[in-house]
Amino acid sequence: MPGLRVEKILDDPELYLLRVDDDRIRYFEATWDIPEGITYNAYLMKLDDAVVLFDVTKGDYTDLFMEGLRKIIDPREITHIVIHHTEPDHTGALPAVLEANGYKARLIGTSFAKRFLEGFYGERVVENFQTIKDGEEMKIGGKTFRFITVPWLHWPDTMITYVVEERLLFSCDAGGGYGIPKDIDDSDEEVVREYLPHVTKYIVTVIGHYHKYIVQNIAKLKQLGIVTEARMILPGHGLVWRKNPVRIFEHYERVGAGTPTKDKVLVVYDSMYGFVERRMEVIIDELRKHGKKPIVYRFTDKEAPAVSDILGEVPDSEAIVIGASTYEAEIHPRIRYTLYEILDKANYEKPVLIVGAFGWAGVAGKKMETLITRSKFDLVDVVESRGMPRPEDEERLREGVRKLVAWIG
Ligand code: FEO
Repeated sequence: MPGLRVEKILDDPELYLLRVDDDRIRYFEATWDIPEGITYNAYLMKLDDAVVLFDVTKGDYTDLFMEGLRKIIDPREITHIVIHHTEPDHTGALPAVLEANGYKARLIGTSFAKRFLEGFYGERVVENFQTIKDGEEMKIGGKTFRFITVPWLHWPDTMITYVVEERLLFSCDAGGGYGIPKDIDDSDEEVVREYLPHVTKYIVTVIGHYHKYIVQNIAKLKQLGIVTEARMILPGHGLVWRKNPVRIFEHYERVGAGTPTKDKVLVVYDSMYGFVERRMEVIIDELRKHGKKPIVYRFTDKEAPAVSDILGEVPDSEAIVIGASTYEAEIHPRIRYTLYEILDKANYEKPVLIVGAFGWAGVAGKKMETLITRSKFDLVDVVESRGMPRPEDEERLREGVRKLVAWIG
C-alpha cells in the first residue's frame, strides 16, 4: 500500500523530505513495467521569513501528501513553491496545496512551466507565478536561490535549484530513479548498489530519448562548479545523495554517454518454435568463446520479459545481437516493439548483429537491417536463413559473431 515518509533531513535550515512510496503503480507513464515501484519526493524548507516547498506529488496521493504536509507546517504558511518540472507525478497535488494555502504562495519556474501548469490545471494556479531565466538568482528567507534551466531533462520546462549558501541542489527528475529504497539516502552501500540498476532503467525509459542532453546539462552544471560543490543532491524520485553526491551525476553521465561495461553483450530475440533459439545457442556459444558475457532476454511461448528491463541493459552493453522470426511478412511483433523502443529511447552508437529465421520468405532480417541502418547503431551483419539452421548456417552465425567481436575491438 502506498505510504508517505516525512523525514527531517537538516536541522539548520530545517529541511524535510516528503516521500510518497508508490508500490501500487505497475506501468510508469502507462508504459514502463516497474514492479519495483517508484517514489515521488517533495521537499519543504523553513527559513527565517519564508517557507519553501520544492515540487509536490502525484494527484492520486493528494490526501496522503496533505496529511503529511500538515504535520510539519500549516499550508497557509508556505510562501514559495518551486516548480522544477510540471509532469503530473510532481504537480498533480498542486491545486489542492494552493487551495489549502489560500493561493498566497508565489510559484517559481520557467515560462514553459507556467504555460504547462495553466494547461493542466487552469488559470487560477498560475495567478501568482514568477518566471525565471537561466542562472537567475533570488533572495528567499535570507538565502540565495539560483535557478538553472536544464531543458530536455526531460521536458522543455525543466530546471533545478541550487541554494548557494547551503550547497543544496534540488534536481527533480535529474538524479532520480525507479524503486522504493528502504533508506532515504545513499549512506548504505548495499542499498545504493541495489538501487542503481533501477536508476539506469529510469534514465533510459524516461529521459533516454534525450540522452545527449544528459551529458550536455551535466557538463553545464560542472562548468558552474555545482556538481562537485553540492553537499546534497535532492531528486524528485528515489534516494537523496548526501554521502557521495557526485556519484549520482557520474552515473547519469555514464548512462547518457553509453559507456560500456567490458565484455557485456545484450542478446534479445523471439523464438516461436525453437528456430531462432537454436541460432542464438550458436551465437551465445561463440560470444563466450571470445570471452564475452551475453545478457539474454528471450520472448517465447513461456516467457516475455519487460521491455523496460531490456532498455535498461542497452547503455552499458558493448554490442547488441537481435534475433527475430519473420511473422506475417513483418518482424515478430514482440521484437518489432522492442526494437522500436530501443531505437527511440536507447539510440546509441553501438554495433548490432541481426539474426533472422523464416518459414518461406525472409522479411524480418531485411526490415531490421533498414531500421538499424537509419539509426545511430552500426550494422555489423545480417544472418538470416530458413527453418532449422544447417551446419553452413551455423558457420555464418559464428562468422557474424567474429565480425561483431572485431568491431568491438
Ligand atoms: Fe518525474 Fe518527468 O516526471
